[in-house]
Amino acid sequence: GYYTQDDIREIVAYAEDRFITVVPEIEMPGHSQAALASYPELSCTGGPFKVSTEWGIREDIYCAGKEETFRFLESVLDEVVELFPSPYIHLGADEAPKDRWEKCPDCQRRIKEEGLADERELQTWFINRIGAYLATKGRRIICWDEIFEGGLPGDITVQVWRDDVEHNAVAHVAEAAKGGFDVISSPTSHCYFNEGVERISLAQVYTFDPVPPELTADQASHVLGGECNMWTEYAPQEAVDGQMFPRMLAFTEAMWSPTAGRDWQDFHGRLESHYKRLDAMGVTYGEKGEFIQATE
Ligand code: ACM
Ligand code: ZN
Repeated sequence: GYYTQDDIREIVAYAEDRFITVVPEIEMPGHSQAALASYPELSCTGGPFKVSTEWGIREDIYCAGKEETFRFLESVLDEVVELFPSPYIHLGADEAPKDRWEKCPDCQRRIKEEGLADERELQTWFINRIGAYLATKGRRIICWDEIFEGGLPGDITVQVWRDDVEHNAVAHVAEAAKGGFDVISSPTSHCYFNEGVERISLAQVYTFDPVPPELTADQASHVLGGECNMWTEYAPQEAVDGQMFPRMLAFTEAMWSPTAGRDWQDFHGRLESHYKRLDAMGVTYGEKGEFIQATE
């Protein structure tokens, strides 16, 4: 499916009425196979490509060597900034394999011309170029934490998501904040609501603190907050609500309350009234019993 410009205007206005800013994420250079299916000339190989019907990481990404790529993305972003008043535009920059760039003469020429060390630096160069374009429109950019792999980018807000054997989300947030970058924290350990409650329980979400304890007050001021992610490749709307609620309630309270002021038992007691509210609003939510289990 797709959104028309009128659909977008409706969503933005609906959110604005509720004091919410919609931040669009226009993914680059990876996760771009849908765009490349229509514009294969913007890839390194020329395609052809099909729109993916499953989620996952794809090797075909925008070619960083071809000027057409930037003309295309700038014209897309011109349209995006018209529609979204958000001061931030998210550019993604996660999960972009460099296999094609390594073999592409255009990308290799770009690396030489720009004096870059490798394909990771090429990604940072790519993002900085788009970031500079958006700065001329008065917008700032957000990128997922992979952007740090290619050296320090320019004026960006980093969104930390990876938390696994190789990546420690708290350490990544701390490093970014200490480096003077604004940070949004959304680690897979607490914030991926597309995961089931058996992996991320309500109680786990309630303990989330986006600010690493080691930061000074000044450094901590760079942590803008957190985001819970609901990737929807496999989720019709009823499933989205069921995954989001009640965990969104725990997440929201965690974002509004310093860790010291949080009281799980108190929150737990107040949940019943939230369920009544959700019922009245027709919002589906996940297992009510889940929070009882989580307190045991
Ligand atoms: C992400 O989950 N790839 C940001
Ligand atoms: Zn290329």
